[in-house]
Amino acid sequence: MARRSLSVRLPVRRDGIWIDSDHQPRGAALEAAGELLPVGAAFYPGVTRIPEWQYAFGIARDPETGLPRFGPPATHERELIVKVPTPAPNAALLYMLTSEVNFNDIWALTGIPVSPFDSHEEDVQITGSGGIALVAALGSETRAEGRVKVGDLVTVYSGTNDLLNPQVGNDPMYAGFSIQGYETKTGSHAQFLEVQAPQMHTIPPDLTLEQAGSYVLNLGTISRCLFTTLQIAPGRTLFVEGAATGTGLDALRSSVRTGLQVTGLVSSPERAAFITGQQGAVGAIDRKDARFAGLFTTIPEDALAARAWEAAGSPLVEAYKSLNAGKLADYVVSHAGETAFPRSFQLLAEGGSLAFYGASSGYHFSFMGKPGAAAPEDMLRTAALRGGEAVLIYYGPRSTDLLDETGLEMIEAARRFNARTLVATTTDGQREFLQSLGFEDAIEGIVSLEAIGRREGANFLWPDTMPRLPDAKVDIDAFKAAVRDYQDRVMKPFGSAVGKILRSADNPRGAPDLVIERAGQDTLGVSTSLVKPFTGRVIFAEDMAGQRFTFYAPQVWTRQRRILMPTASILGTHLCNAYEVARMNDMIAAGLLEVTEPQVVAWDGLPEAHQAMWENRHSGATYVVNHALPELGLRSRDALLEAWAAQQN
Ligand SMILES: NC(=O)c1ccc[n+]([C@@H]2O[C@H](COP(=O)([O-])OP(=O)(O)OC[C@H]3O[C@@H](n4cnc5c(N)ncnc54)[C@H](OP(=O)(O)O)[C@@H]3O)[C@@H](O)[C@H]2O)c1
Repeated sequence: MARRSLSVRLPVRRDGIWIDSDHQPRGAALEAAGELLPVGAAFYPGVTRIPEWQYAFGIARDPETGLPRFGPPATHERELIVKVPTPAPNAALLYMLTSEVNFNDIWALTGIPVSPFDSHEEDVQITGSGGIALVAALGSETRAEGRVKVGDLVTVYSGTNDLLNPQVGNDPMYAGFSIQGYETKTGSHAQFLEVQAPQMHTIPPDLTLEQAGSYVLNLGTISRCLFTTLQIAPGRTLFVEGAATGTGLDALRSSVRTGLQVTGLVSSPERAAFITGQQGAVGAIDRKDARFAGLFTTIPEDALAARAWEAAGSPLVEAYKSLNAGKLADYVVSHAGETAFPRSFQLLAEGGSLAFYGASSGYHFSFMGKPGAAAPEDMLRTAALRGGEAVLIYYGPRSTDLLDETGLEMIEAARRFNARTLVATTTDGQREFLQSLGFEDAIEGIVSLEAIGRREGANFLWPDTMPRLPDAKVDIDAFKAAVRDYQDRVMKPFGSAVGKILRSADNPRGAPDLVIERAGQDTLGVSTSLVKPFTGRVIFAEDMAGQRFTFYAPQVWTRQRRILMPTASILGTHLCNAYEVARMNDMIAAGLLEVTEPQVVAWDGLPEAHQAMWENRHSGATYVVNHALPELGLRSRDALLEAWAAQQN
């Protein structure tokens, strides 16, 4: 008998309905049998039976090929019928009344840049992060804890994590954090949603239910970004990208309320008028204005062209200053990606900080260094280096000279902090030179790039800069292949040489806690990938002026790494933790933060709302999709139950 080819795909499981023509008749039959609630149905917790099946929006695998049917939301996002989960001990089951509509959904639906199916084995990916819900059932531990009861109205935070991991004591986001609807197999664009207990939060007073179901992902991201990551203070200046919609608008409004002078980047005179006229911005910069339209590009690789790029930004710098009494931005909030980031960084004042939590226009981040130097020891103090932490120092970057005085100063500084230091030299000669200086007690080990190259041959590449990656939106396979090549030829050989030496009981992978980068090279892409996630920081001490630096954006924002330079900082930030949601809700209740009025779309209108966001032609600042609110403007659970009852009479 002929052996079956290994390339034959396994059949998809049949828990989700993905054959389009089956969908309607199956839904009707299940509804008639009482196994599926119609969309919008009243649900009385503890009384209405929890059905076996539910409607949900997402994408499914193709029944023929088994491949996910990724594509633009308008044509590829489908209503599906999937099982209703049973809540685990630390979880709860919610009946969703509304769900938040956001960009994560679009990344999941298009599979750009990664497929959400890579992290689970389901045949469908349901999207949706957050919303407002009634508690339908509780897992045993959640019930025992007693904070939430069946029937409570809760607003849903979309962060999930490994609840029992010791890292939770530092920040739950450092312990297997995943955003529901994007990095988990469940999502809130569904009638029912299983959540972990810390995802359920009480609703701030005075909000309509559609408002209460609209803000946690966007305003939560902004709350962490502004108050935890940037630690904004009144009286200072802030520049925000995409200031007329979504997270950018939340950043604008929250920082205006906190007493900052805010300038926003927008793309039309209408959006400029909206943020200055109605939202309290001191100014707007229209990126499509003829004076600026050609400026928003990545920075060219050639050194001269890079400096010309920087000089060409002066009309933008002057425009910003003229709106801000001659000052540049103390803080920048960035999310619009590789074409916006370099200019936003250019607008940063001396000593300023830029935080970013996304990269809509691409991940290849470049920036021109700022003038100013600091003593290595001062930078280690800024980075709060602790004794015993693992430090990587580059010695003799792009040079064969034996003596690198700045490198020696950096090694000395790390020694004073009792760090466990690994030095990466460019040549074997430099390694031997350092060994001859008798640094044994100051250094844990020395790796020479020349030696790695000799050992690995063509399998090792030490980059001059972060290579440009193909556009994931145009050719996802070429993009993935380029990422893999970089991983295999750059990160693996260097990372394993470093890891072997820095490995310890509490750091099994041997990732550095801190990397001292050098102004004379552009290996920030390597260092930001190698340094420990979440707590890791990359520092510079030398003057960086006139030089281009590059890195891969997701490594910094999703892992919340920090790049600390003598006169500026770049800080990765990502959603928020459950405590920050509670704190944000207190601030909303105290009138210190404001929930943006959402645009409510009907259940069936979800794919079109996603499509409008994808094409940046959306008029609403934020969207929610209505699952089961019988009318808008309700403000409490009692009002909801009464409106349902009235509907049935
Ligand atoms: N890490 C997290 O936890 C987290 C949470 C929420 C969102 N995000 C990410 O943040 C990003 C923004 O999300 P959002 O919900 O605020 O989206 P949004 O409402 O669509 O706002 C994005 C705005 O950015 C501006 N923009 C788009 N392309 C641009 C470009 N090439 N250059 C400059 N500006 C551009 C547009 O405004 P103008 O056309 O007016 O300039 C657009 O309205 C997304 O990538 C999203 O995935 C991350």
